[in-house]
Amino acid sequence: MKIQPFLPEDISRVRHFADQEIGVGYYTEIELIENQKKSVNKDGEISSFLLIDEDSDQVKGLRLAYPPGNWIHGKGSAQREDLWPFKKNETAYFQSLFLSSDVQAKGWGPKLSQMSIDQFKKNKVKGIATHSWKESPHNSSVRYLEKVGFETIIEHPLYWVNVDYVCTRDGKPCRCTAVEMYLKL
Ligand SMILES: CC(C)(COP(=O)(O)OP(=O)(O)OC[C@H]1O[C@@H](n2cnc3c(N)ncnc32)[C@H](O)[C@@H]1OP(=O)(O)O)[C@@H](O)C(=O)NCCC(=O)NCCS
Repeated sequence: MKIQPFLPEDISRVRHFADQEIGVGYYTEIELIENQKKSVNKDGEISSFLLIDEDSDQVKGLRLAYPPGNWIHGKGSAQREDLWPFKKNETAYFQSLFLSSDVQAKGWGPKLSQMSIDQFKKNKVKGIATHSWKESPHNSSVRYLEKVGFETIIEHPLYWVNVDYVCTRDGKPCRCTAVEMYLKL
């Protein structure tokens, strides 16, 4: 397995991965092109990463992370930035972190995230906001975020209900809850 920055040439295999692991239609090709661009800071550094199986060359994991100034809000519109310790223009955003089921619970999620965190720290970013998936198996989403130091701000029921995709848990619409969390760097 290797970790590498998310590049424009990865768009189509990342879309295939997202359809399989997140839910069909969660990310359109156009959205992924935008998300890749949002991952690049003014110095050309990329803060989103892929986990790649070197044998098959398949994508096994995706960590989308955007520097301050490159994002407005997550997939849902609910966001309590008035409760965050730092302003939005000082805050990076962790969008999605997904791993294929065969590589979950082996520490790859925290490793991918640490690559983004290290880069934000180097660039003196003050904090990272995220919307974590409360219903993830074994509460793994909130658990891994707490492990790297994120704290819960507030919960948003039905956060993804207006996103036009097929949720792997609920089908359509998604009735899952987002836990808004924040990490001070
Ligand atoms: C959430 C996720 C990114 C965490 O990455 P990871 O590499 O599996 O993280 P870790 O190996 O540190 O595991 C974190 C905890 O979750 C548990 N866990 C992870 N995947 C699990 C699974 N499929 N079933 C049960 N437990 C699981 C681990 O055992 C560990 O438990 P512990 O805190 O008791 O040690 C990854 O499991 C994943 O992609 N899950 C499905 C999608 C998801 O929930 N994404 C987050 C959306 S916001």
